[in-house]
Amino acid sequence: MIVKNDKDREGMRAASRVVKAALDAAEAYIRPGVTTLDIDAVVEETIRKLGAIPSEKGFHGYPNASCVSVNDVVVHGIPSLQVVKSGDIVSVDITALLNGYQGDAARTFAVGEVSEADMKLIKAAENAFYAGMEYAKAGNRVGDISSAIQLYSEINGYGVVRALTGHGIGRQMHEPPEVPNFGKKHTGPTLKNGLCIAVEPMITRGDWRVYCASDKWTIKTSDGSNAAHYENTVIITDGAPEILTL
Ligand code: MF3
Ligand code: CO
Ligand code: CO
Repeated sequence: MIVKNDKDREGMRAASRVVKAALDAAEAYIRPGVTTLDIDAVVEETIRKLGAIPSEKGFHGYPNASCVSVNDVVVHGIPSLQVVKSGDIVSVDITALLNGYQGDAARTFAVGEVSEADMKLIKAAENAFYAGMEYAKAGNRVGDISSAIQLYSEINGYGVVRALTGHGIGRQMHEPPEVPNFGKKHTGPTLKNGLCIAVEPMITRGDWRVYCASDKWTIKTSDGSNAAHYENTVIITDGAPEILTL
C-alpha cells in the first residue's frame, strides 16, 4: 500500500502497535518449559484484547495466530506441544489486522542461557535489517535494500535465506513489491514516498538453503544450522523510514 493520507498512516501505525504488543507479551512469557502452543496462546490473547484479529490464522489455511520457529526452523513453525528449553532460540512472527490494516513483525528470542554464537546470530539479523534501512528511502530501489542486507549478512559469515522474502503490506498481509534479502544494487522497483513494506531478513549460521517439512509449512535449514528472523513494518519517506513495529 502507498499511504497517501493521515487515515492510512495512522491505520498502519495502530495495527503495527498491536503486533509489537504481542511480540512484547511473547518475549515476557517465553522461558524454559513452556510450549510453542503456550506462546501462541499469549500472542492470540494479546491481539484480541487490543481489538485486533490475528490474521495469520486461516491465511492459506495456516492454523495458528503466530509462527513459532525453534532453532533450525527458519519460519512458519506451527505452534505445538514442543517444549522450549534453555539454549533454544525461538523466532516469533506475528501479523495483526486492525480496522482493515495489517501490521507484521518478527523477533528471535533467546531461551535461558544461549550460546554466544546464537546470541551473535540474533543480533546479526537485527543489524542486517538496519543495514537495509540505510537504503530505505524514496527514489532508491528495492535492490538497494536487498543488497545491503545480503552484504552485511554474508560479510559476517551468515547464510541469507532466499526462498522467502519481505513484501509490501497494507490492507493485505502480502502486497507488491517483493523485498528479497539478497540481490543487486540499482535493480528492482523504485521506492515511493508512502510505500509500506515489511523488511525481514532470515539468516543462518550455515548455508542459505532451506526445505519445507512434511506439514507443508515448517521451513528448516537444509544443513541443520540455527536461524534468526527480524522483521518490521516500515513506511518509506523522502527521509529516514518510519519503522512502525518498534
Ligand atoms: N508473517 C509472515 C510474513 O512475514 C507470514 C506468515 S505466513 C502465515 O510474511 F501463514 F503464518 F500467515
Ligand atoms: Co511476518
Ligand atoms: Co512479513
